[in-house]
Formats: sequence, C-alpha cells, structure tokens
Amino acid sequence: MIDYYSPTAEFYDLVGVQHWSQSDPLLAAALAGTDTGSGPVLDLGAGTGRATAVIGRVLPDARILAVEPSPGMRAALTSRVVRDEDLRRRVTVVAASAQEMELPDRLSGAVICGVLGYLDRSERAELWGRLLDRLPAGAPILVELMAVSAPQSVAPMRIARQTLGEQDYEAWLSGEPCGPDRMRWAATWRVLRGSRVVREVDVTHEWYTFGIEDLAAETGLTAKRITPELGVLVR
Ligand SMILES: C[S@@+](CC[C@H](N)C(=O)[O-])C[C@H]1O[C@@H](n2cnc3c(N)ncnc32)[C@H](O)[C@@H]1O
Repeated sequence: MIDYYSPTAEFYDLVGVQHWSQSDPLLAAALAGTDTGSGPVLDLGAGTGRATAVIGRVLPDARILAVEPSPGMRAALTSRVVRDEDLRRRVTVVAASAQEMELPDRLSGAVICGVLGYLDRSERAELWGRLLDRLPAGAPILVELMAVSAPQSVAPMRIARQTLGEQDYEAWLSGEPCGPDRMRWAATWRVLRGSRVVREVDVTHEWYTFGIEDLAAETGLTAKRITPELGVLVR
C-alpha cells in the first residue's frame, strides 16, 4: 500500500473543514439511530478523525474502531481522540490498511469515507466478505467516493482555500484516466504569503472509479445515494 497521505497530512484538516461543514451533517443523519449493541462501528481509513468525531457525536454509546495506515494521518487522529475525554474512552486506533486489519467478530456499522477507490476489485471483494459476515441486517455501511464514477479528464480546479495566521493555503486537483476503471489524480497544496507561493507540495493518487450503484452490485446490498459522493449500503 502506498502512503499517499503522510506528505500532505498537515494540510488535510485545513482545507477539509469547508467540505465537511456540508457533509458531516449528512453523515450524522445517515448514521443516526444505528443499533450499536453488536460491536464497534468501524471507521476505515479514518484519516485525521473527522468521521470518527461525527460517529462519536451521533452515536454516544458506540465503541469505534478507527483503522488508519498512514503515520501522518494517524498522528492527527490520535491527537484529536486524546484531547476529547469521551472519544478517548470509546475510540481504538489501529495502524493497518483495509487489506491487513484484524476485525472483531461483530460490528454495528461501518464508515468508509474516501478510501474504497484505493482498493482494486478483488481487494474490495475480500473486504466485503469480511465486513458482511460481521454486520447484522440493517447495519449501515456509509461510503464516500469521489464524484467522478468513470475515468475522465478533469481540468485543474481549486478545491479549497483557507487562511491561517499570515498565510493562505490552497488545494488544487486535476485528473486523467490511467486505465479502463482508474484515474490518476494530481493534487497540489500551496502555501502563500500574499501572492507569493512560499511552499508547494505535489502528490499523485491513483483511484479506481465507480459509484455507489456499482458497490450495490458488488455486495448485493441496497444502495441509497445521499449526494454524488456519499451513499449508504444496507442489507
Ligand atoms: C481521503 S482520506 C479520508 C480520511 C477520512 N476517512 C475522512 O473522511 O476525512 C483517505 C484515507 O484513507 C487511507 N487509506 C488509503 N489507502 C488505504 C487502505 N488500503 N486501507 C485503509 N485506509 C487507506 C489514507 O491513509 C487516508 O487517511
């Protein structure tokens, strides 16, 4: 597994907050009422813990298993959890990828935001096999994908901007097909003082393209699309 995220982990929450102010309430609404009696809720590829915090808020009795392979992202995740008395009691942070994580016998639900496109079809099939065995009927699997569900060219666009002290931070994204079901995304993170770029970090990600309906076909579950990126799968 390639760690795409450690080199830019410092920027993740800075630019994420704009997006999350819209998606967190949708995530919370989709999770509300989940029966948490079966086992922990899995937050797979938990990143810096933004969904972990949403799960914790909306499901106050849930134990949470936050699995995150990237050391940079995990540092931010641990930092978020340890400073919150309630999360500290309920969240277990595990350093592993989807392919290698160990799971408890039962789960109450799963949240998989921004992760599944890093897994090829056979890795996803293996993941579904392990998850579906552990989830009771009616348990939600919340999935966030990229809005593009088939390979296409995407011209460079600024996806976020944030100010911290005397500096502005920008995130730019462009994409090109790199296979019949895959895209190569180029992300650039810029730090500016006024109009002067003082730092720039470039990363390239490869992501399998599919939509929530494709995941329904893969899993045999029922899919409900919430936004072009966010959906929920339920048996
Ligand atoms: C776009 S971020 C999403 C983070 C978080 N879920 C959120 O919604 O803010 C993708 C995360 O998936 C993790 N990731 C990448 N490949 C993974 C894999 N094979 N298994 C588990 N996590 C993975 C990355 O390290 C990164 O933290």
